[in-house]
Amino acid sequence: MLEVRDLDVSFGRARRRFKAVDGVSLTVGPDETLGLVGESGSGKTTVARVVVGLVKPDSGDVLFDGKPLGPVGRRPASLQRAVQMVFQDPRSSLNPRMTVSAVIDEAWRTHPESAPTGDRTAGLHQLLDDVGLDATVARHRAGELSGGQCQRVSIARALAVKPRLLVCDEAVSALDVSVQSQILRLLVDLQQRHHLSMLFISHDLGVVHQIADRIAVMRRGVLVEEGVATDVLSDPQHEYTRSLLDAALELTKES
Ligand SMILES: Nc1ncnc2c1ncn2[C@@H]1O[C@H](COP(=O)(O)OP(=O)(O)OP(=O)(O)O)[C@@H](O)[C@H]1O
Ligand SMILES: [Mg+2]
Repeated sequence: MLEVRDLDVSFGRARRRFKAVDGVSLTVGPDETLGLVGESGSGKTTVARVVVGLVKPDSGDVLFDGKPLGPVGRRPASLQRAVQMVFQDPRSSLNPRMTVSAVIDEAWRTHPESAPTGDRTAGLHQLLDDVGLDATVARHRAGELSGGQCQRVSIARALAVKPRLLVCDEAVSALDVSVQSQILRLLVDLQQRHHLSMLFISHDLGVVHQIADRIAVMRRGVLVEEGVATDVLSDPQHEYTRSLLDAALELTKES
């Protein structure tokens, strides 16, 4: 469904120019979650930003159902709607003064074809229920909510336009460990109920392990390993994946 082919992205000018993403190819199939892992600065967010159209690559193709996605602005509305992103920091990705109801309304105004045809309030409550929020939350401003609640609202905003692919960039990294696992469970549940595909990005292999069907490992802009999650985790082929795995195990022991 999503196909990224030979992606190159560089930043900076002249002698300062460096490649943040170097020849990355990956796919995400229907109903599938691809976990993209790698240390800080390995280029994961850059890949995500290309997929959602916020960064223009030097070269390479990003296809959705075989059609080029193109950059935002020139991306057809239907494709823009199909690919939604959930960001790391729910507090800064939501306007603290906006009510939850207004946040969802804005999404529906951007993509009117996804707005409920009947009772709007019923549609809103259904959406909140879907992400495990009480209907009363609709009246609250984003700034009054907890981190976990904010992230649920961000997920609801993405779901509101009925996407087919969810790009989650460190979507649980800013949350407490207990809230992290609640949000992970919510994402797994939503993915199954709504038949979503997911590109799930995290620097934490332990988190990716809980959600991914396949895992791709990036290091310094390059994809070093890719495979079925259980294979990558039980028998990593690349030295770097092994070191990530060891680091994740160390953390588990400590906590
Ligand atoms: N807009 C930009 N301008 C210049 N350099 C950038 C820009 N965006 C990213 N970079 C650089 O590109 C490299 C890859 O960054 P990226 O954010 O994709 O990494 P990441 O894997 O998401 O890291 P993290 O785990 O810290 O989020 C880094 O060296 C980063 O400093
Ligand atoms: Mg990042």
